[in-house]
Amino acid sequence: MKVVLMLLVLSSTAFADGKMLFSKNCKACHTIGGGDKIGPDLAGVNSRRKFAWIKKFVAYPDGMINGDEEEEGYEKPDAYAKKLFAAYKPTMMQEIEISDADLKSILKFIKDQKKSPKGKILKIK
Ligand code: HEC
Repeated sequence: MKVVLMLLVLSSTAFADGKMLFSKNCKACHTIGGGDKIGPDLAGVNSRRKFAWIKKFVAYPDGMINGDEEEEGYEKPDAYAKKLFAAYKPTMMQEIEISDADLKSILKFIKDQKKSPKGKILKIK
């Protein structure tokens, strides 16, 4: 019984955190199922992109879009990131420093909304 209660508490705080973290760091530019804002609708992002890609992009969007010879892992531009920027320019997402755990709770919050994406993101492959 105790274990069940603890799990409930843990999962609800993870959910609240994801929502809070999304509002604080992402909501100014992204919707979840509401279509384009400054950046793409993030509904469905969990199935569009792998966690490793999302983590890398959030940490250094410019590096992914344009490449950075001096930064390990970002030497070459990422083809998908380039298409994203072409669709959403002139705004480029800024670098966001976030822990894996916090990014995961944001992604879980997005997934739990069970929304489908709208807007330009649907045309980017
Ligand atoms: C200042 C606006 C801004 C903020 C704040 C922002 N983004 Fe973005 N994001 C963008 C833009 C614009 C793009 C499209 C690529 C580009 O032009 O840089 C993008 C693209 C993305 C993508 C790629 C989406 C896809 O479907 O391929 C992900 C993932 C993403 N953002 C996650 C986040 C997360 C998570 C946060 C919060 C921690 C966040 N963004 C905060 C502007 C923003």
